[in-house]
Amino acid sequence: MRNILLLASLWAAAAAHAATDLAAAADIVKANGCYSCHSVAEKIVGPAFSSVAEKYAGDKDAVATLAQSIQMGSKGKWGRAAMPAHSSLSAQDLKLLASWVLSAKP
Ligand code: HEC
Repeated sequence: MRNILLLASLWAAAAAHAATDLAAAADIVKANGCYSCHSVAEKIVGPAFSSVAEKYAGDKDAVATLAQSIQMGSKGKWGRAAMPAHSSLSAQDLKLLASWVLSAKP
């Protein structure tokens, strides 16, 4: 029982940390193959993350919009290539990824 409680509190601490730590997002990006279609500064198959940040600068709904695009996939916003859905990512990871993309600088 004590072990379970300890694990639960460790997990909660890790989750709280991840929510505020954009560096954790960089690992999620790597782990999910985002870099096979994206880079920070250049267009590959998908737009450069810095271009996405530029386009959505000042848009207060940007985190929600991008989280949804990553989760459900996206097409028609940037060109003819489509982004597939990433439906296994948690809501927390999606939000973190969206915030990280919005912070990208060329
Ligand atoms: C198979 C290639 C591919 C992969 C893998 C991929 N993307 Fe994309 N991504 C694209 C394309 C193509 C677009 C442009 C879609 C469009 O025009 O609407 C895009 C668009 C985006 C956008 C902008 C969406 C918008 O609403 O303007 C974001 C943010 C993004 N990708 C993040 C990610 C993240 C984070 C991952 C990894 C979890 C990822 N992408 C993986 C191809 C990919």
